[in-house]
Amino acid sequence: MHTHPPTIFRRLAFPAGLALVVGVSMTCFNTASARQGGAGYPPIGPLPGINAPNEAKVAMGRRLFFDPRISGDAGISCATCHDPEQGFARQLDREGKPMMLSDAYPGTKHFRNAPTLINTRFKAQFADVGWGWDGHMGANLNDVMRDQITETMVMNMDMRLMHERMKQDPVYVKMCQEAFGGECNSSRGRKALVAFVETLVSIDAPFDTGKMSQEAERGRALFEGCAGCIRCHNGPYFSDGKPHNTGVAENLDIFQNPLRHVAYRAVLTNHGVPQSDIWRRDVGYFLVSKEYEDVGKFITPTLRELSYTGPYMHNGMIETLEEVVEFYDLGGGHEDPLAHELSPLGLSDQDKSDLVAFLHALSSVTPVTVEAEKIPEKYEPIEDWLEIHN
Ligand code: HEC
Ligand code: HEC
Repeated sequence: MHTHPPTIFRRLAFPAGLALVVGVSMTCFNTASARQGGAGYPPIGPLPGINAPNEAKVAMGRRLFFDPRISGDAGISCATCHDPEQGFARQLDREGKPMMLSDAYPGTKHFRNAPTLINTRFKAQFADVGWGWDGHMGANLNDVMRDQITETMVMNMDMRLMHERMKQDPVYVKMCQEAFGGECNSSRGRKALVAFVETLVSIDAPFDTGKMSQEAERGRALFEGCAGCIRCHNGPYFSDGKPHNTGVAENLDIFQNPLRHVAYRAVLTNHGVPQSDIWRRDVGYFLVSKEYEDVGKFITPTLRELSYTGPYMHNGMIETLEEVVEFYDLGGGHEDPLAHELSPLGLSDQDKSDLVAFLHALSSVTPVTVEAEKIPEKYEPIEDWLEIHN
């Protein structure tokens, strides 16, 4: 936990004390929260298989992913914020310091933690919410690519400029021919990016390969049993695709750092949030629904690949999985009066480490990553570029 450590430890006193009295493993008392074995919820299990990708499209998408020229000032690429070396998210900034909130287009800063792109393709199953922590992004992955490329605080790129830049690079000219049988355009660029992002899926998580430790097996029983995680984190993607308020504390940097603040205000205004200038909190799913009961709700995120994707939560406020489990043991965050879906669990120390072991068992043993593409800064101009029309 980055802020308020005294609060969390004060609260710890009650459930930890209780666990001591009971003194055995699997002591959680919140049995009303979930039926035994997760019965009644979409079962957790291996992810569905995916169709063999189109290699030419994937290769083109991978190059675009690392190519800063698809951002307005050619300063950042997708990989700047979704770093393949950091679980396609970001833990550390350029100086190697922990990073809670994402970078943004040069000159501004983001107000959300960059989520992993691993398994993000499976969000397509959630028909009624889009991508992003609050579901405000896109109705399909192709839309999300457009959002990310054109959004001023993300890549601030004009699709016509993207078209032109691809058209002028002989490598893309060739790739477009191979992948799409024709000339480059921004729509083909987006399709290629989707093809690449869709290849990012879990490889060999012990949960999927059936090689879980005993600790992780016990953690699973808690997860599906009295710890009640299964209520929201269910199905193969470990998400119900629905908004909930768990009471994660606000990340005050959003209000103290002018660059983050201005980015946040702009998004509220652009989405037509009522009284966009008065909110002093991340409104969450309210941004999408405009229903006051949705203030502070975020779409349940996947729990796959967490070993590589910290810090956690929409605003990076929780640094480790141990602290996440501690957070739930206390019944979630208590500063938000609107958060009332969670209650204290009374986990023993053993239970907590078992749950953490289970969460780690949902991460691939072989990290899901790709080698960075080197984008040459200089290349020969296309000879007859004036004659090429598209
Ligand atoms: C400047 C940093 C930055 C750049 C550059 C960036 N992203 Fe993101 N991306 C984010 C942040 C932050 C979010 C979460 C936004 C939110 O929830 O409000 C996000 C969300 C996403 C999501 C939704 C993930 C999910 O599971 O909901 C996808 C997919 C995505 N980005 C793909 C891309 C691709 C592809 C590119 C390059 C074309 C890209 N992003 C460029 C920061 C960035
Ligand atoms: C009421 C629904 C609900 C329940 C029950 C629930 N979660 Fe969550 N979980 C969420 C939501 C929503 C978020 C995102 C909150 C945010 O970003 O502010 C989340 C986030 C997380 C994260 C962070 C993921 C990331 O990528 O940042 C972890 C880890 C997690 N939950 C584990 C658990 C465990 C373990 C349990 C059981 C002890 C549990 N959750 C119970 C809804 C729930």
